[in-house]
Amino acid sequence: MTATTATDLATPFDRSERAIWRGSADAYARTFAHLCAHLAPDLLDAAHAGNGTRVLDVGTGTGTVALLARGRGADALACDADPGMVATAVGTAGRDGAPLTGVVAALPALPFADGSFDAVTAGFVLNHVGRPRAAAAELARVALPGRRVAVTIWASPPAAGQTLVGRALAAAGIERPTTFPSLDGADDFPRTADGLAALLRDAGLVDVVVEERRWVHRVDADTWWAGPASGVATVGKVLTGAPSEARAAARAHFDRLADELRGDDGLLALPHVALLGHGRRPPA
Ligand SMILES: C[S@@+](CC[C@H](N)C(=O)[O-])C[C@H]1O[C@@H](n2cnc3c(N)ncnc32)[C@H](O)[C@@H]1O
Repeated sequence: MTATTATDLATPFDRSERAIWRGSADAYARTFAHLCAHLAPDLLDAAHAGNGTRVLDVGTGTGTVALLARGRGADALACDADPGMVATAVGTAGRDGAPLTGVVAALPALPFADGSFDAVTAGFVLNHVGRPRAAAAELARVALPGRRVAVTIWASPPAAGQTLVGRALAAAGIERPTTFPSLDGADDFPRTADGLAALLRDAGLVDVVVEERRWVHRVDADTWWAGPASGVATVGKVLTGAPSEARAAARAHFDRLADELRGDDGLLALPHVALLGHGRRPPA
């Protein structure tokens, strides 16, 4: 694993995100990684990441997309701002004996020369960067001319499954503390198909396509609660920062609200909506 820093480019939002993900790799792998994995094959298809291609997966988390790319015969590089995530991704790959290289680096400043990769992917990462426009441009920069970049983000408005935990927190009176920075308005973009398409075009990509993807994530209630209860993502930090009585109340509200989304098999059926966007760096 190699490391680089881009602290001079980090916004307050970026610094907060670093703190939010620190120490979360194991809990993320057990919980939300299974949700995000749903679009990993589509992400690789959209990036044309196949056998023999050199693939950069940015914001790799615990390495789902990079590992799948390697399984397709690609030479995959797993990159994330959080060292724990990269260590977990590389360690997971190592268990089956095949190498996966990891790099600790943060958007919007990646330590690669222009045009270093045949395919660049970033699954559910542009939701977590302080400068989405600069981040998208950086993803485009490191793709070879004529090659593809593919990203996923959560769409707005969210589906009922995505708001379940947030609704439970709100019912328990747990609010997002004002100490969590928001994105600067000038850096933000609409989390819609048109908004993501414009972001990717402004990043210099051509032949941009954005597709909405809806699916139902099936999971047992305890596993779904375990993500935020372990402090994963912003909602997890808001929950774990609340007093114990409020946390207990939030769990009770979660159980009540979850009943509305429970299927006959006892699992929760959680509707989600995301956007898959992809485009090509113009040929040289
Ligand atoms: C929701 S997770 C997605 C992980 C993975 N792509 C997946 O689909 O499971 C977001 C990841 O983005 C990483 N991240 C956040 N900000 C980043 C940045 N500025 N540059 C690179 N990675 C970042 C986080 O550390 C975290 O691992």
